[in-house]
Amino acid sequence: MLTFRDILRTGARIGSVRRKLLFESPLEGRRPVPEAAAVSFRYGDERDLASLTAPEYAYAADARAFGFERLRSGDRLVLGESAGRVVFYAWLMFRQMDMSIGNYWPLPADCAYTYKLFTVADCRGRRICPAYYEWVKRELWTLGYNRLFAWVEAGNRASIRTHLRSGFRQAGCIWHFRLLFRSYFIRPAIAAAARQPEQACAS
Ligand SMILES: CC(C)(COP(=O)(O)OP(=O)(O)OC[C@H]1O[C@@H](n2cnc3c(N)ncnc32)[C@H](O)[C@@H]1OP(=O)(O)O)[C@@H](O)C(=O)NCCC(=O)NCCS
Repeated sequence: MLTFRDILRTGARIGSVRRKLLFESPLEGRRPVPEAAAVSFRYGDERDLASLTAPEYAYAADARAFGFERLRSGDRLVLGESAGRVVFYAWLMFRQMDMSIGNYWPLPADCAYTYKLFTVADCRGRRICPAYYEWVKRELWTLGYNRLFAWVEAGNRASIRTHLRSGFRQAGCIWHFRLLFRSYFIRPAIAAAARQPEQACAS
């Protein structure tokens, strides 16, 4: 049955404009961030993704199917755990960014991109997301990356605050126009790699 949400989704595909703030952080010279609640981070696999079913994770079936596809394509799922419970997840993509589902923007070879960040509702405001950024920046630096990107919907104040707190600066906007079921983008330029070629990245 057609729901109100379906109608809104279809309407947005026929015609809509979204502004996404692009954030960039260098992976060296990171600023210290406040201590988070005791959370440890690790990479997740297909089993972990399949287990993100509880309502607290807000993981829809179509998003999970997309996640399996992205795992096969080389993206990494990161989980944050506290007292044996997953309290945070996020994704990493290498050398490209999806500006919306399936619309990929190639990035310079020294760049990684993180997306679908999520802290469970009862743990928000405890600096878990900044702790993820500390962990993941160290990981990416070790793998040879120089820069990390993320984009945030212009109205998402909580996410904007966490990115500014985590050493990101705004690097322009991505404008996403949808017209008659097609997507069009205006995006800022991203300069090429600063590192020498012999320090090429691994993922
Ligand atoms: C954005 C998000 C990942 C931040 O995670 P976090 O671990 O709570 O990050 P922080 O502790 O740094 O809190 C960031 C901001 O969230 C807001 N916040 C604090 N407590 C909150 C709560 N209980 N509920 C909602 N937002 C809260 C505050 O504005 C806080 O900044 P401030 O302390 O300077 O006021 C989390 O809010 C979330 O999962 N939101 C829903 C999904 C989402 O929007 N993801 C981001 C996509 S780009």
